[in-house]
Amino acid sequence: MKFTDEINRRRTFGIISHPDAGKTTLTEKLLLFGGAIQEAGAVKSNKIKKGATSDFMEIERQRGISVATSVLAFEYKGIKINILDTPGHKDFAEDTFRTLTAVDSVIVVIDVAKGVEEQTEKLVSVCRMRNIPMIVFVNKLDREGKDAFELLDEIEQKLHLSVTPLSFPIGMGYDFKGIYNIWEKNVNLFSGDSRKNIEETIEISDLNDSSLNTLIGETAADTLREEIELTQGVYPEFDHEAYQKGDLQPVFFGSALNNFGVRELLDCFIKIAPTPRAKESDTRLVQPDEKDFTGFVFKIHANMDPKHRDRLAFIKIVSGTFERNVPYLHTRHNKKFKFSSPNAFFAEKKEIVDISYPGDIVGLHDTGNFKIGDTLTKGEVLNYKGIPSFSPEHFRYINNADPMKSKQLNKGIDQLMDEGVAQLFTLELNGRKVIGTVGALQFEVIQYRLEHEYTAKCTYENLNVHKACWVEAKDPKDPEFLEFKRVKGKFLAKDKQGQLVFFADSSFSLQMTQQKYPNVKFHFTSEF
Ligand code: G4P
Repeated sequence: MKFTDEINRRRTFGIISHPDAGKTTLTEKLLLFGGAIQEAGAVKSNKIKKGATSDFMEIERQRGISVATSVLAFEYKGIKINILDTPGHKDFAEDTFRTLTAVDSVIVVIDVAKGVEEQTEKLVSVCRMRNIPMIVFVNKLDREGKDAFELLDEIEQKLHLSVTPLSFPIGMGYDFKGIYNIWEKNVNLFSGDSRKNIEETIEISDLNDSSLNTLIGETAADTLREEIELTQGVYPEFDHEAYQKGDLQPVFFGSALNNFGVRELLDCFIKIAPTPRAKESDTRLVQPDEKDFTGFVFKIHANMDPKHRDRLAFIKIVSGTFERNVPYLHTRHNKKFKFSSPNAFFAEKKEIVDISYPGDIVGLHDTGNFKIGDTLTKGEVLNYKGIPSFSPEHFRYINNADPMKSKQLNKGIDQLMDEGVAQLFTLELNGRKVIGTVGALQFEVIQYRLEHEYTAKCTYENLNVHKACWVEAKDPKDPEFLEFKRVKGKFLAKDKQGQLVFFADSSFSLQMTQQKYPNVKFHFTSEF
C-alpha cells in the first residue's frame, strides 16, 4: 500500500465523558464491530471505583489495566482505527488533557438522563480550544432521560458547541422504539423480547412514506415527522469542512449497552473523521505525508514490575514512517537513539512492529531518557508544542522519611515527575521541595509508588497555597518585576525546568498581586 494510502486510512481518536456515561461500554462495542474482541466484558473499565480512593491495590490494578487499554487499535472496513484511552477520574484529568494532544478527533459521550456533566465540560473546553473535531453520542436511550431538543440545547449552551443531529430518537426509555438515521436516511428499530442486540435497519428515504406508520405506529410516526422538520429548521445542515475545523458537531443517539446506534456512529465516523492532522512545531507546521519521521511523547507508563525499572514511552507519529532499529534524534538530548522492540497496540495486546505510520502510536522501552512532550525526529531539529503543564491546585511539602534512601527518593521523584504524575517546585527562600498536583489522589499514588518502586519513603506537610502560576516579565530587569520578586520572595519557587512560579495563597491575593504588578505576566499553563 502507498504511504499516503496508509495515512488516509488511519483515524486516531479519543472518547471523552464524565465517569459512568458509558465510555468503556462504547469502546467495547466499537471493538466488537472491528472484530478485535469476541465478547462483551473484555474491556476492563479503568476507572477507580467509587469509594476506593485510598485503596492502593485499586490504584495498581487501575494502572495495570490502563497500560493494556492505553491504545486500542482495530480495523473496520479497511480503516485502521486507534482509540486512545482517557482516564475518566477527575484527579487524572491532566493525563487526559495530554492524551488529547495526540488525537485527531474525539467522540463525546453524554448520558441522556444526566445531560452535560462537569468533567465533560472541562474536557470539551480543551478540545474546543484546540479546534479538535468532535462527534457527540447521547447514550442510554433505553432509559428515561431528557427530551432530545432539551438535551441538544443544553449541549449547545453548556459546551458552547454548534450541533446538528445526524440521528434522532423515536421515543425514549420504556417507549424507546428506535432511531431515525438522518445521515443514512433509514430507521433502526429497537425491539424484540430481550430488547437487546436487536437491530433492524429499514430504508425510509421519505419520511412521509406511509410505511413508517406501519412500522412505528401513527402517533410516533407523526411526532417523528414533526421533530425532524423542526431539526431541519433549527440546526444547520451537516457540513464536513465545518466539522473538521471544529465549528460544527454532529450528534448521534443510541444505547451502547444494547449495541444500538453504535454501528451508525462508527460508519459515519470512518467517513467524516479526520485522517492524521498536521502539527505545529517550534519551527514550522509538519505535514503527515512528509517523508521523514517525526513524533512526540504524550504519555509515559512505568513498568509494573519493580525489578525492571523500564518504562514505556508512548509516541504519536506525526510524519513519515517510524522503523525498528533506525536511529532517531531525541531533540532535547541532541542524541540519537534506536529502538529494537517498538510496540504497536492491537486491541488488548501489544506486538513488536517493524514499521508504523502517521496517526499510529508506538510504545518505546525507556530507561529514563524520555519525558512527556519530548520530540523524536529523523534528524531535523524541531520540538512539538502544545503539551503544557496545568497550574496545580493541591500542594504539599515533601520530606524524606528515610535518610539512608535520599538517592532513591530523588530518583523516584524525578521519574514520577517525568511521567507527569505531578509537578515539583523548589522554593526560592529555603530550597524546600513542594509537590503540586491537579487532584488530591496523586499524593497517595506518589507515596505508594516511591515506596514500592524505589524503596524510598516520604512524608508530606501541608502548605497553604491556592494556586501556582508561572510568571515572567518582558524585560527581566524591569524595576517593577524586580520589586515583585523582592516583595513576594517567599512565595516564589522554580519548577523543574527552572521557570519562575508564584504561589498565591488565595484567589484574592492573586488578583491583588496581578493588579499591583501589571508588567508581570501570570500564566496558568506552563507553555506561554
Ligand atoms: P464509563 O466508562 O464512562 O465510566 O462508563 P461505563 O461504560 O463503565 O458505564 C457506566 C454504567 O452505565 C455501567 O453500569 C454500564 O453498564 C451502564 N451503561 C452503559 N451504556 C448504557 C446504556 O446504553 N444503557 C444503560 N441502561 N446502561 C448503560 P454499571 O452498573 O455501573 O456497571 P456494570 O456492572 O454494568 O459494568
